[in-house]
Amino acid sequence: MAQRIKIKDLFEKQPIGEEITVMGWVRTKRGSKNVAFIALNDGSTIKNIQIVVELNANNESLVDKATTGAAIAVNGKVVASQGSGQAIEINCTTLEILGEANPEEYPLQPKKHSLEFLREIAHLRYRTNTFSAVGRIRHAMTFAIHKFFNDKGFYNIHTPLITGTDAEGAGEMFQVTTLDIANPPKNEDGTINYKEDFFGKPANLAVTGQLEAELAALALSQVYTFGPTFRAENSNTTRHLAEFWMIEPEVAFADNNDNMDLAEEMLKYCVKYALENCKDDLEFLSSRLTDEEKSKPQDQRSMELIEKLQFVLANDFERITYTEAINILKNSKPNKNKKFNYIIEDWGADLQSEHERFLVEKHFKKPVIITDYPAGIKAFYMKLNDDGKTVKAMDILFPGIGEIVGGSQREERYDVLKQKIEQFNIPHESVWWYLETRKFGTVPHAGFGLGFERLLLFVTGMTNIRDVIPFPRTPKNAEF
Ligand code: 4AD
Ligand code: MG
Repeated sequence: MAQRIKIKDLFEKQPIGEEITVMGWVRTKRGSKNVAFIALNDGSTIKNIQIVVELNANNESLVDKATTGAAIAVNGKVVASQGSGQAIEINCTTLEILGEANPEEYPLQPKKHSLEFLREIAHLRYRTNTFSAVGRIRHAMTFAIHKFFNDKGFYNIHTPLITGTDAEGAGEMFQVTTLDIANPPKNEDGTINYKEDFFGKPANLAVTGQLEAELAALALSQVYTFGPTFRAENSNTTRHLAEFWMIEPEVAFADNNDNMDLAEEMLKYCVKYALENCKDDLEFLSSRLTDEEKSKPQDQRSMELIEKLQFVLANDFERITYTEAINILKNSKPNKNKKFNYIIEDWGADLQSEHERFLVEKHFKKPVIITDYPAGIKAFYMKLNDDGKTVKAMDILFPGIGEIVGGSQREERYDVLKQKIEQFNIPHESVWWYLETRKFGTVPHAGFGLGFERLLLFVTGMTNIRDVIPFPRTPKNAEF
């Protein structure tokens, strides 16, 4: 057989008249007594190549085995397509079955499957148009993020996944231990003796790489992390994973305004990159979404996907303070009519996702950045404003998603930070090294965290975060 060509390259080159070999998985097969048409996909593109097989006594039993899901290799001549919908097809000369897929058992028969069902067969769902499109876009966004930061002179750093600190202070960490949990070593007072544990003290999976990213930024000036993050929060929502990927840039000699500018520029860069490089996949996902939306009443339908992405590119994000946000919410219809589950009464209340979505989807109708939150509802490391009660935080809220980015300018003053650490009851021995950076050559610096899967929700138009990561980890779910 000739050397294999990927289906994406085949559509790009269109080598009409040439003998080529393609390999892939059968999506569908139809035909008559004399001829079979096989739609073949190899994952390099959302498009299938049509294979035309003239049936004869020699190949009939072979073609019978080329059922949906089977892997095949095809040698043949590229010709202009007779049918509509595609420019080229392959007239098969040799067909080889690489791996059969028994139609009695193969669960992905060509019909519409619900996303819920596909989650149960996540080991096979990459073979659908939807998940292969999401998978390719996930790759493109990974690449775009590295390119964005690399082109700006940022250094990618690798922060530890095992840590002794709870940096976000939310206490939602997975413990890492080699102790026998059925029979752990005890101290005299009955508590567990962690001196005998692997690290000689309690350890957890990291909820963020930020603190270590700050150490690097205070030497390399501009850095970013891009890694897995673990949170044991028991929230079974369409926006939360127990294992997700986060991008955390950290910049020295920068304040919260620089931080917002960087975040907005990065988000727009990613969206633009997707529009320019993932056209076929976005068109597919867009039409998929439009189909889904048909069942909803007109006023609840969202904007067409590609239109929505272009809209975000074309508009500045709205920037408001927490105090302004509270005033808008207090005077809003759903608050007055008690339609919110959490009624906003006083300054200081934490914003729930219903409030965030009201601001973004109903009030401003575009991405919103909220700054200067009350110190009490944000992490210890955020820089205290001169008012003594708010911090230089910034959260970016996106339509359909809510919070996509969370960040802040960092508290660079030794005394203020030390006091905050005490106020938040953070054990000194777990953050002494962090505090020391404020003693030696401290400078204003800022950074943020982008939830990678939340970005993917936005770009792909998928509505459940379990569908933008190949193998989701959520409460009571760690299959595959
Ligand atoms: O707002 P968060 O908790 O901020 C931090 O972790 C900071 N250390 C970031 C920094 O300043 N360097 O998380 C950042 C983002 C959120 O805005 C959200 O997009 C995402 O991470 N995120 C989650 N995504 C999926 N599942 C979860 N359970 C998430 N928790 C946060
Ligand atoms: Mg946050």
